[in-house]
Amino acid sequence: MKNFIKILIVIAMGLFLNSCYYDSFPQVIDEGGGEIPDDISYSEDIMPLWEGQCVACHNGNIPPDLRPQNSYNSLLDGFVEPGKSLESSLYLSLIHAPGVSPMPTPENKWPAAKSDLVKGWIDQGAKNN
Ligand code: HEC
Repeated sequence: MKNFIKILIVIAMGLFLNSCYYDSFPQVIDEGGGEIPDDISYSEDIMPLWEGQCVACHNGNIPPDLRPQNSYNSLLDGFVEPGKSLESSLYLSLIHAPGVSPMPTPENKWPAAKSDLVKGWIDQGAKNN
């Protein structure tokens, strides 16, 4: 009988201690998660990303026109909302978000290190720098 009470006490303590935890951890949205540099340059960091793969299709016939001389204006024409990466179809298409066409192809998604740069550039105001 004594053992039974000891066991009960241990169980009760366990329940009591277990109740001491935070229900709401800060919510982390997993979008890849590396460090995003502070001052991202369009011409040096972003424009080169379109070379090859993207320009192969987006060469003037399919908007956005991602050829170097046209890409900034074309992207700002409806594909990028400065300061709002999560409302920019450019970024949403790179992370294959629902509701936009997945780029560069449905089977091929960029690593977060690359799409995070695009996110950072947009959130820093999508400057033509
Ligand atoms: C195989 C050809 C092809 C490649 C490669 C490609 N795209 Fe596209 N992209 C398209 C076509 C076609 C459309 C328009 C029709 C559609 O939405 O599917 C499009 C649409 C888009 C859109 C608009 C999406 C929307 O839903 O509004 C963006 C932004 C975009 N592409 C960016 C890119 C970027 C950045 C790359 C390189 C990572 C890329 N694309 C690579 C063919 C391609």
